[in-house]
Amino acid sequence: MSNTATELPYFPMPRDSKCPFSPPPELKRIQQETPVSKVRIWDGREAWLVTRYDDVRFVLRDQRFSVNPHHPGWPPMSAGQGATRRDLKPNIFALDNPVHNELRRMQSADFRIAQIEGWRPRVQQLVDEAIDAMLEMPKPVDLWEAFALKIPSIVICELLGVAYEDSEFFQHHSDRLVKTGSTSEEIGESMDALRGFLRDLVEKKVVTPTEDILSRMATQQVKEGLLTASEVADLCVMLLIAGHDTTSNTICLATILLLQHPDQLEKFRNGDDEVVAKGVEEILRFLDVPHLGRRRVALEDVEVGGQLIRAGEGVIAAQMIADRDETAFEDPDKFDIDRDARHHLGFGFGTHQCLGQPLVRVEVQIALATLFRRIPTLQLAVPMEEIRFDYDALVYGVHELPMTW
Ligand code: HEM
Repeated sequence: MSNTATELPYFPMPRDSKCPFSPPPELKRIQQETPVSKVRIWDGREAWLVTRYDDVRFVLRDQRFSVNPHHPGWPPMSAGQGATRRDLKPNIFALDNPVHNELRRMQSADFRIAQIEGWRPRVQQLVDEAIDAMLEMPKPVDLWEAFALKIPSIVICELLGVAYEDSEFFQHHSDRLVKTGSTSEEIGESMDALRGFLRDLVEKKVVTPTEDILSRMATQQVKEGLLTASEVADLCVMLLIAGHDTTSNTICLATILLLQHPDQLEKFRNGDDEVVAKGVEEILRFLDVPHLGRRRVALEDVEVGGQLIRAGEGVIAAQMIADRDETAFEDPDKFDIDRDARHHLGFGFGTHQCLGQPLVRVEVQIALATLFRRIPTLQLAVPMEEIRFDYDALVYGVHELPMTW
């Protein structure tokens, strides 16, 4: 295939609005015909699009592919993502090893499975309270606001030690950072607001620590002179942002997906913890809400899937289409909660694999299982065609989700 400037396909490709859970048809075609090929991105630059399962894992594991946003070849998803990654210092999303590992270690203890599993009773309580409140509301209820956003938002606030009363403030600012259309002024303003807010909080926690991540980092890193309050704030801004839209959109989209598959929903609703856990892995594979791929730049010439990628060229490791690769998943476009989908790439792969994944599992498993058990007649309050899917954000999702029962 020729890769001249005018002929390159634009990435991301549009989805078929009639099939909101299917990957864009053109992306599927590229995976089958030219699995490693060039595309053009929002700022006019070219980047390599890698679409097969094995090739995506290869790129994400290989240290010759860097996440450094200061490298001129690194392909940002939007102006906002570029600015966020460049401005925050330090930022584990944007650092290669060995520095990345060193910083990740400072936060990983808080997200270990054993640590996060201890949050199950609290998450269950929050889910039950949110459902109790929903049941009292006039119908239709917006599931996005009343439930899907609320649970991850309260949990990440409590984990970090941020008052939930401030959630409107940081939701507004983190929303701007994940929208692809935000202006650079809006992005700069929101970055400054979030960083300042967290820095002030860390400084307070140095003096009067409580039981949370910010206090632990204030005591272990700032007091010990290993990091400044600003550095801790910059590390934690990403947790605040990453901990919201991804999980809430997964809950909303999974609700629609399960309702569209009544046989799967019945199994899920009546299943034990193992069935629910397995079902959630399939949901994560099938939805793959971070739908703009993992962004890297080649530091050396590397061959990927028989194609030479030159040093300095940008790479998009498209995990969302790799999760629909038949070499990794039989009948990949079928939603099947009985399949073993644990090897999906929805949380990425390799050194930058999602730090928050144990938390996501706990939240999504409890949220969906409880929602469908406690409201067995749950249904969309509008026809499917009227649901407004959010194609333009860094995370795929909905603008709102009107539900009734
Ligand atoms: C459904 C929910 C989520 C999904 C699908 C998801 C997906 C991902 C993916 C694909 C990556 C890899 C990025 C890359 O390779 O460039 C990632 C990284 C990361 N995620 Fe998540 N995420 C979710 C929720 C969360 C939550 C709730 C948190 C924290 C509270 C979180 C924190 C992080 C962090 C800190 C990283 C960077 C890890 C590193 O660079 O070492 N994520 N996530």
